[in-house]
Order: sequence, then C-alpha cells, then structure tokens
Amino acid sequence: MAIAVQQYNVGGIVLPRPFKVRRLGHFGFNALKVWESLAFYNALLGFKISDELDFSKNPNMPEAVKALPDARGFFMRHGTDHHSFVLFNKRVMDFRADRTFRPDVTINQITWQVGSLREVVDAFHYFQEREVPIQRVGRDMPGSNWHCYVYDPDGHTNEFYYGIEQVGWDDISKPRAMYYRGFREEPSLPQISENAEVVEALHDKGVDIFSGYRYEEKLPARYDVEGVLLPRPFKITKIGPVHLFVDDVDASEVFYTQTLGFVKTEESTYHGARCVFLRTGSEHHSLALFPKALRASLGFSTHTTCKSFGVEVGSYQQLREAVAFLKSHGVTVLDALPPELSLGMDYVVHAIDPEGHCIQLYYYMEQIGWDGRVRPPQARRPLTAEWPEALEPLSDTYVDQVFQGPLG
Ligand SMILES: [Fe+2]
Repeated sequence: MAIAVQQYNVGGIVLPRPFKVRRLGHFGFNALKVWESLAFYNALLGFKISDELDFSKNPNMPEAVKALPDARGFFMRHGTDHHSFVLFNKRVMDFRADRTFRPDVTINQITWQVGSLREVVDAFHYFQEREVPIQRVGRDMPGSNWHCYVYDPDGHTNEFYYGIEQVGWDDISKPRAMYYRGFREEPSLPQISENAEVVEALHDKGVDIFSGYRYEEKLPARYDVEGVLLPRPFKITKIGPVHLFVDDVDASEVFYTQTLGFVKTEESTYHGARCVFLRTGSEHHSLALFPKALRASLGFSTHTTCKSFGVEVGSYQQLREAVAFLKSHGVTVLDALPPELSLGMDYVVHAIDPEGHCIQLYYYMEQIGWDGRVRPPQARRPLTAEWPEALEPLSDTYVDQVFQGPLG
C-alpha cells in the first residue's frame, strides 16, 4: 500500500516539506580561549566584528555568568550578512537555560537560510508535528533574523532563518534602540517589512538609526590582494561546508535528508568508514557526515564534534598566500588529509584555531547541475604534493565566486 506523503505549497511549488534550505548562512563556536580565538578569526582570518553581546547584562543569566570577568560574545561577518560567524564563551553557553550543549558539541549553531518568513514559521510547525526537539522560535537581536532552532540527532543546533540584517558600506550595525522588534515566540504573519521598521524607529520613536556598532579595521593594510590593499593576503568570500563527526552516520543522514531535505551528492569510504556528502544548492556539498570513530585516528581534537568549518577564499593565489600567512603567524596547518575526506574540492588547507577547531580553507568547489551528477573521479583534478604556481581551469572554476561588494 502506498504511503501518502504530505505535500506543501512553498511559494507555488509543491514540496515534501514546507521550507527549502537555500544556503548556509552562519556558523559558530563556543570557546574557552575566547580572546585567542577572537584574534584568530578577526585579525588572521579577517571576519569583521558586527556586534558584541554581553551576557552578564542579561537578567536571566545565573550569578556564575554575571561574575565572569568578561562574558561577551562576538558576531562577525565576511560580507554584508550581519553575521556569518559567531564566537561565544563556552563558560557562558553552558549556563544557558534555553539551550543545552552536549559535552563535545562546541558548535554554537549551524544556520541555514530558507526562502521566506512563512517558511520559518511553517518549519516550526513541521518540526513540532514530527517531534523534532525545538529550542526556540522568534527573532534574535543582534542580527534581526527570524528563526527556529532545532537539535539534530547528535545535539547540534540547526537554525533556520529568514531576513538577516545587511550591513553596508558604512559598516554600521542596527542600533540597540531598535531591538524592541525582537521576538521570543512564534510571530504572527504577516509582519511589517524592515523598511517599515526603520521608518517607525526614525520618525515615530526618535531612534538615532546610525548609533549602532561600527567596525574599523585596526591592522595595517600591507597586502595587495588582486589590486586592493588589505591586512591579510586573502579574503574569505563564502562560508561552509560544515563537516561533522557524528555517532551514527545513518541516523544523521536520515535526519538531514528526510527531515530537512538535504540531497546526497556522493559518499566515500575511508578505512571502512562511510562518509556522506550532502548539498542544499549547486555546491558539491554544504554538509558532510563522518563517523566519530575517525576523529582520533585522523588526529582531530576529540573535544569537538566539528571536523571542520570551511571558508572559501577568493582565488587559488589567495589560498596559496593564506597558507604562508597563517604559518608565519604560528598557526598549525595540518599535513594534507586524504582526498576521500574532501570530495568535490581540490587544493585545501586545514588550519587549527587556538581552541583546536579545524578550519578548512579552499578556493574551489565542484558545482552540481540540473541532473545531479558529479564529475567522474577520473575527470577530477589530480593533486600534487607540491602546489603548482598556477592551474588550468576546470569547467566550473570560479563560477561560484560571486562575492558582492568590495573586498575590504
Ligand atoms: Fe543564528
């Protein structure tokens, strides 16, 4: 007997879920070495700070958090999204009443953009109906994104959002005086637009709309990055993929594909372990799942379930220069990892942050077309231990490099 599959009208398209993940929007870590990590992500990798949040000023936080010498968390960005990376104090996060982190979950959140506010609200109901553990729904400030937070089978927080604040040429974030539009519950629909919110703040509430956090680069701009002087010889142009170590690859694959709608691109086998690569758009993968048994044997830190957080830089040249730059600043860079662990990419670098988290830097990711087929293994670029000075292009080289706006 055929099982009836529920269908949803998503903007006029009939889908098996009431939302469609479009891309990875942001990602974050909880760290003990907050200051060293901040220096790594801000000064070395170049994420701009877009807001700070002092959790000791939150009346719902326990005395232990209020007694910390510094309980700030940092929102950072590589482009115009208010945040694409967040760094929070693990000592603070472990005390949150509204969220729980398992002992080796140091990922603060893995955050996916959906297509509309309605998709966020409908996703909330969909998760409720399927008894997916939900953390909260509403709209957080800073960042202004409407969202719903759920846990995956390993306790990783997955957030689904619409409408993150955009920070423009003046590097000014939305002021705190506009945070009254935050929500701690399911919003009724429809909501007023952001333009209407700004008009209201400006004309009805007398808010100085230019009084928010403003970022200024403090480091000397010594490097010519393809025609622009920047403090580091590369620019992060995209975030993701996220690689996770999980307890049960099969269970996680079912959750991410069947519940969330990710598409399996391909899988690899490494020392008998199944590794699964999943996508949400035309990129080879935006998420990959690896069995936890590989974590120690590959030399990854056992304090975290994050195998790596990927950041794409603007070109192959930038990637080469990033390696030398990071090494010159004392950053540990791993020896080449087996290609089975990085399917769909060619030259990649794995750098270790002060906390032991692995950052995967790359410049190219294979793009998947309408028929969902991957490039045959024999047609992929053969990698050499010695990186060439320049490469022949592939059919999809630089096709996903569409960074909007100036590099710095
Ligand atoms: Fe978020």
